[in-house]
Amino acid sequence: MRISTTLTINGVKKTIELDDSRTTLLDLLRERLNLTGTKKGCDRGQCGACTVIVDGRRINACLALAISHDGADVLTIEGVAQGDRLHPVQEAFIAHDGLQCGFCTPGQIMSAIGLIREGQAGDDPERVREGMSGNLCRCGAYQGITEAVLEAQKFLGAANQRKVA
Ligand code: FES
Ligand code: FES
Repeated sequence: MRISTTLTINGVKKTIELDDSRTTLLDLLRERLNLTGTKKGCDRGQCGACTVIVDGRRINACLALAISHDGADVLTIEGVAQGDRLHPVQEAFIAHDGLQCGFCTPGQIMSAIGLIREGQAGDDPERVREGMSGNLCRCGAYQGITEAVLEAQKFLGAANQRKVA
């Protein structure tokens, strides 16, 4: 039986036919839509490489069935820059060397965006590390990642205050 699911991905609504109801959101993004920025690391919820934001919450796309998110709004790494302008979190990762091989980086960036939106990290490096603990980096770029999240958070907080003022 063929099933279809409708998702808004990076602002574009798409209806996708699925052969298998067990297709994960990760496989749908990578294999059906060619959005390969979202990485497949462990494929079992342990590394965070596949982190995307669904309806405002960060999730592991490898653990999510595509059909169970029918109607959802999905943000992937391909959707965070505005044209040629990188997202402040992307810029901060570059400025602080928050990456080495780059494999974990899309997931780290999506998780950082989610964490900043959740407003839970404050300016405490320990809380940032805890909030990012679901995203593993085999290269050990954790120092730069934490600094990047802190800086992006400061920048985005100041930008929000400018908007409100
Ligand atoms: S690939 Fe999803 S958590 Fe590792
Ligand atoms: S930068 Fe290589 S795994 Fe994180």
